[in-house]
Amino acid sequence: MMASESKAIPKHLAVIMDGNGRWAQRRKRPRIIGHRAGARAVATCIDFCLERGIGALTLFAFSSENWGRPEDEVGGLMKLFVHVLDREIAELHRRGVRIRFIGDRERFSPAIRERMQASETLTAANATLSLNIAASYGGRQDIAAAARALAEDVAAGRIAASDIDEAAVAARVALADLPPPDLLVRTGGDQRISNFLLWQLAYAELWFTDTLWPDLDAATLQRALDEFSGRERRFGLTGSQVAAIDENRA
Ligand code: IPE
Ligand code: IPE
Ligand code: MG
Repeated sequence: MMASESKAIPKHLAVIMDGNGRWAQRRKRPRIIGHRAGARAVATCIDFCLERGIGALTLFAFSSENWGRPEDEVGGLMKLFVHVLDREIAELHRRGVRIRFIGDRERFSPAIRERMQASETLTAANATLSLNIAASYGGRQDIAAAARALAEDVAAGRIAASDIDEAAVAARVALADLPPPDLLVRTGGDQRISNFLLWQLAYAELWFTDTLWPDLDAATLQRALDEFSGRERRFGLTGSQVAAIDENRA
């Protein structure tokens, strides 16, 4: 076996796709041009995951807070959203991608909601890559919704308050059926989470790059993977405990 084949690769990659606006500004173009260029980088990222056998990819496309941006930018993003989904969905389906959307759908237009639903239904049985698009998503809102669902279960007598533990919350936040992201990549140079998957990222490895999202290429993603495979994930234990666990597994 080649050394590279034995390297740990993430099961679930989460990505904060940031830097579209600055990419456009540097070219003295409107911000929406950066978002359009960013759509090409989404394709690069999906191709990369399919090639490397990464089973789950979660992309932060639009945050709960991004609704506060200027109306023309939000409108342009919505149009781009529809355009890209309509253009790509058949090919994604052909390649075995299962697409899902997380976030507050109620805030989108009926036309967008219908497309989200249709693409989820079309690809529901696919298993090569689970592609999750976080749109109108906020990590705090996600946890609050889980708390509300649990409160409703208690109020209806389905569970007792004492049943609420870590597993009960984990089962009600977004992407509960997937392993939590083990690697988070953020482009655009800022080193923050910006209300992405707060609960789910508890033990993710974080990797930041100054590369702006529209400039993303496979080599950049490969650097993230290489660094990931070299990190020791201890999950609160000591280095020697982790080494002993790894030895027992081998
Ligand atoms: C990320 O790029 C895409 C969205 C948030 C929709 P930005 O639009 O945030 O780009 P910058 O950070 O302003 O450069
Ligand atoms: C995070 O980027 C959200 C997405 C990439 C969709 P932002 O550009 O909204 O984050 P901040 O405002 O710099 O924290
Ligand atoms: Mg940004």
